[in-house]
Amino acid sequence: MKVFGGSSNKPLAKKIARNLGESLSPLEIFIFPDGERRLRVEEHIVDEQAVIVQSTCTPSDQNYMELFFLADAVQRSGARSTTAVVPYLGYQRQDHVFRDGEAVSLEVIVKTLEAVGINWLIAFDLHSVKIPEVFKIPVKHLSALPLFAEEIGRRGWKTEDTVLVSPDMGGIRRIKILSELLKGMPYAVIEKQRDLATGRVEALGIEGALARRALIVDDMISSGGTIIKAAELLREKGVEEVVVFATHAVFSDKAPVLLQESTIQDVYVTDTVYIPLHKYFPKLTVLSVAEMTAKTIEEKLNK
Ligand code: R5P
Repeated sequence: MKVFGGSSNKPLAKKIARNLGESLSPLEIFIFPDGERRLRVEEHIVDEQAVIVQSTCTPSDQNYMELFFLADAVQRSGARSTTAVVPYLGYQRQDHVFRDGEAVSLEVIVKTLEAVGINWLIAFDLHSVKIPEVFKIPVKHLSALPLFAEEIGRRGWKTEDTVLVSPDMGGIRRIKILSELLKGMPYAVIEKQRDLATGRVEALGIEGALARRALIVDDMISSGGTIIKAAELLREKGVEEVVVFATHAVFSDKAPVLLQESTIQDVYVTDTVYIPLHKYFPKLTVLSVAEMTAKTIEEKLNK
């Protein structure tokens, strides 16, 4: 097996490789003065199983192009199979036409990933459980929820004074799974409204009983608008402590400051998206998906 790390999330690629008992295979990524990239596999990989790790977070377009070129390069170099670990799958939120005339970005991405010859795709906490069905190639849809459940257990938070909260109706499935992992921790759901033209978010109300502590669970934090509005509403309703668990730290430029200054006590994310140092803030804890990813790869490719 040969493991390659694209430039979007080298630390995670290295950790996954280490968990597989490998080190990253050498790769030349040359950037031309106009920004175009040239990629070259620098090792003999004929008949090897190639594993490519590349998150398609910001800059998504560039990271996607690199992923496509990587898949092409490993095949031209004779790899037996190509597994793409795309911990965060960019452009997945536009999974259908919301308003007449829009493109469905997810479908365009899926068609291209298939066309460049990827045989197996591993992704974390996709925006919708239906996304794997859009692919013709097999997709392993992993989740950070078991890591969150472990952390909640470590913190000693119990069902008596804690409630799980989904910041929108779309996240109900997610909190039901987490609730099961936590022996039936109760949950509530916020009714969210987003203005499709401006992106502005409003938290309108809550369905379900609350408790002293609320754990908001979401797939990603981008602007921070969704969870900050949710936290404000929870505090208005008397919740004393709000903690956030979100898989993908997509973090727009202002998000870290807004989160640090919010009423939220702690923010847990994972390393599916690389977080540059300037986006770290004191309330932030990052959990790693590397071990889980490596185990999944080992189970499939080594059998
Ligand atoms: C939306 O449906 C997603 O699950 C997230 O809640 C959303 O994408 C987060 O974005 P933001 O942080 O910009 O509100």
